[in-house]
Amino acid sequence: METIIQIAYLAASVAFIVAIKLLSSPRTARIGNLIGATGMLVGLLATLLHKDIVRYEWIGIGLAVGTAIGAWLSFTVKMTAMPQMVALLNGFGGAASALVASTEVGRALLNGTAGSLSLFSLTTISLSLLIGAVTFTGSLIAFAKLQELLSGRPLPLPAHHLQSLGLLLASIAGGVAFAWQPEGPGLWVLIGAAFLLGFWITLPIGGADMPVIVAFLNSLSGLAAAATGFVLENYLLIIAGTLVGASGFILTQIMSRAMNRSLWNVLFAAVGSGGPTTAKEGLSVRSTTAEDVALMLSYAKEVVLVPGYGMAVAQAQHAVKKLMDALAEKGVEMRFAIHPVAGRMPGHMNVLLAEADIPYEKLYEMERINPDFPQVDVVLVVGANDVVNPAARKDPQSPLYGMPILDVDKAKTVIVLKRSMNPGFAGVENELFYQQNTYMLFGDAKKSIEALTQALKEL
Ligand code: TAP
Repeated sequence: METIIQIAYLAASVAFIVAIKLLSSPRTARIGNLIGATGMLVGLLATLLHKDIVRYEWIGIGLAVGTAIGAWLSFTVKMTAMPQMVALLNGFGGAASALVASTEVGRALLNGTAGSLSLFSLTTISLSLLIGAVTFTGSLIAFAKLQELLSGRPLPLPAHHLQSLGLLLASIAGGVAFAWQPEGPGLWVLIGAAFLLGFWITLPIGGADMPVIVAFLNSLSGLAAAATGFVLENYLLIIAGTLVGASGFILTQIMSRAMNRSLWNVLFAAVGSGGPTTAKEGLSVRSTTAEDVALMLSYAKEVVLVPGYGMAVAQAQHAVKKLMDALAEKGVEMRFAIHPVAGRMPGHMNVLLAEADIPYEKLYEMERINPDFPQVDVVLVVGANDVVNPAARKDPQSPLYGMPILDVDKAKTVIVLKRSMNPGFAGVENELFYQQNTYMLFGDAKKSIEALTQALKEL
């Protein structure tokens, strides 16, 4: 039986690696997801065959409750609330790892065999508790900020780094004391300080940086699982945890780089929605109508659409596809410019546009399309704001300064579709709206796009 279990674990590990490879492209992501889920099922079934599992009742109850909650969430959670959902799931992953590790200690303490635990076991248990607890409390704060239960403003605390360092040192000291004398109070110091550390690191970080923190916590939840794998001597958990740890860290790096920031800066600089905004008093914006924009589009040679978070809120992707088709009938080709952090999660815009059957070849990454903007006749900015804010290039005082943006301000005409003059996620005013070549088409993005398509057809 042991051999069968290990072979199943090997197969599941290969499935995870193949799944991650396939998930790296929208074209193959769906099948990748399926292969990953199948690998997880194989791993689960193999674990249930383990000789140490003697009763199935509680596992069955856990499975039923978990499945019911999972099914309910997957049907009810909105796409725009996905980041906080992921944050919560990461948190539970961390908590699960910490719980499994503490069960191992609890059992040894109850049986009076804690003294005979090897140094290796005590170290891996400590690591699992530390990383798991930090991931859990950190993720709860990330969830609360993204769900707007807590203010998304950055909250710089005095001597914050020192306090975090103090908590980290206290947890390490607790871990060392626990390894020295497992029955002593070190375990409780470790657990208490680690829980506080998660809260403390995440609390000052602004809501705008939370998606990066969620990716970072995702990486930590993987490391916690890997540490638990060492506690249980379970190879599948070690491999799967390491994969999550590594891929989560790569994603964190990609996201930080897309905002031209280091992870250190995201974690400790308390940058975000509370930053200074540039007052635009005395300047006016020009609003336009769907009919006028339709006319501009019909005469255009080059049209680029920039989707942003507002397109996701309005669920305007299908309307956008219809507009693309209506333009194609008039012989006008529309391309899409995708900013790596547009929306609220990695690949957010790709997912939405794929859902509306917009061909991948029409999607252009920032680096590829930026040099083309000066030749583009009309840019339609659909619910995007921060990712097209020229202050990121021009204003060293702006919190967005240094973030690479889509250079839509260099196009011949820019049409911005949004509901009001409200700022985007970073809370910063956008000078693009006041430019000579910019027109605002106010309203819900879906309704505006539908009106535009209708007007285009009537021309
Ligand atoms: P934002 O800058 O957040 O702007 C979205 C705009 O959409 C808002 O100005 C809003 O203006 C408009 N909007 C909302 N609902 C709308 C509706 N129903 N119809 C039309 N417009 C609507 O979005 P973005 O340009 O996509 O930038 C993403 C932001 O998230 C960046 O600051 C980025 O750094 C941050 N972020 C994203 C990620 C990932 S992974 N995507 C990670 C970290 C940080 P109105 O209210 O006036 O309509």
